[in-house]
Amino acid sequence: MTTMASLKTVERLRATVEPEQGRIPMFIYTDPEVYELELERVFGRTWLFVGHESEVPEPGSFLVRDMGEESVIVGRGEDNQVRVFLNSCRHRGMRLACEDFGKVSMWRCPYHGFTYDSAGEFMGTLIAAPYERAAYPEGLDRKALHLIEARTDSHAGLIFATWSQDGPTLDQFLGNLSWYLDLLVGRAEMEVVGAPQKWVLPAGWKLPSENFCADAYHTATAHSFLARLGMVKGVDFGRDGYHVDPGGGHGLGVGVHFDEESYFPADLRDEYRAHLEPEQLGLLDRVKNLHGNVFPNLSFLIPNFIVVDGRRVSGMMLRLWQPIGPDKVQVWSWHLVERNAPEWWKRLGQKMYVQTFGMSGMFDQDDTENWEAQTRNSNTALWRQDEIMLHYAMGISGEPLTEFPGPGDVYDGKFSEAAGRTFYRTWLDLILDQRPEQ
Ligand code: FES
Ligand code: FE
Repeated sequence: MTTMASLKTVERLRATVEPEQGRIPMFIYTDPEVYELELERVFGRTWLFVGHESEVPEPGSFLVRDMGEESVIVGRGEDNQVRVFLNSCRHRGMRLACEDFGKVSMWRCPYHGFTYDSAGEFMGTLIAAPYERAAYPEGLDRKALHLIEARTDSHAGLIFATWSQDGPTLDQFLGNLSWYLDLLVGRAEMEVVGAPQKWVLPAGWKLPSENFCADAYHTATAHSFLARLGMVKGVDFGRDGYHVDPGGGHGLGVGVHFDEESYFPADLRDEYRAHLEPEQLGLLDRVKNLHGNVFPNLSFLIPNFIVVDGRRVSGMMLRLWQPIGPDKVQVWSWHLVERNAPEWWKRLGQKMYVQTFGMSGMFDQDDTENWEAQTRNSNTALWRQDEIMLHYAMGISGEPLTEFPGPGDVYDGKFSEAAGRTFYRTWLDLILDQRPEQ
């Protein structure tokens, strides 16, 4: 909804956010009016991650997730299609599903009992109401009371949904990123291990999203304990590799090694070969870590391979930075693994996940301290002014490589903020777009 306050904020952003110059004002991290605009124009319009296919394995399986601040139900129908509905009964707006996940034959509202088809031919349709004849002798218009449905699609097992019925397709939205995303989640049949971990951080959602998108630079300092404890040889794991700006506000950093052999299990090689192009497999063979972000708030990570119980191992994780206020995120963290992986890779990968990047992870604590302090600073009187800018100019005059197997602008070495500048350009373009009210 456009109000005088939001118009003023839009103009303020237009005048002060200059991604191409590497100039970003700090007030945007936590300003309440900026946050309201984000809910409407970013989270209300782009594709958002809502779950992995393996989390809704059969007809009737459902998840409760969020799109921006809206609670949604992600359900699989008998036709095997996954659909996403607003988790809000059409009678008085009660949440239909109050659990995090489950399997049901219908969704029955806990308030007055309106009942909706949860998997069948009429998925999302009101199919019954208690004492229907007595309560509604004139009948109920079931079509008009259908659950509000989001547009849904998936890529390599990742389910996305959007409230925009006429915007870009998911393929268009992901663009060049798909090629890289396949290395993570499309290289084999993947499954989520257990339920996602969830916790709340006092941090604005853009800080962690942008960190995963384009900040390999912090690792040498913020995570230097890894080298000091002798877990890796040095802190160069943050530098060697490539910075990728695929466009669309997405971004990633690919850390590479120079050993002959791939670090991934040899037992899975045939499956990788069946799922990936030879150029993709060639890059996967050199991966020693990989971080990135699907705009706006889904991050992914293959942490730096380390030796656990005598074997070199890593994992694959997804992170959702779910906004729950201008200066607060609920973190959702998933660990994924190849379904057909050898037992040691599954077991040690999970161990590594818990120790490094889960809720109790060593790395998470380093990062969290920074994001919380930045968020606090952003809320101070001095930093709420327009004219004090942050410095986002790393790699601003860098030239992308002309030869690289993958698409997008790819820079040699991970120290660049090119994808971060595109993240803020994409964000700003969405906020500035004042489309007529629908
Ligand atoms: Fe759902 Fe009344 S709010 S049946
Ligand atoms: Fe970090």
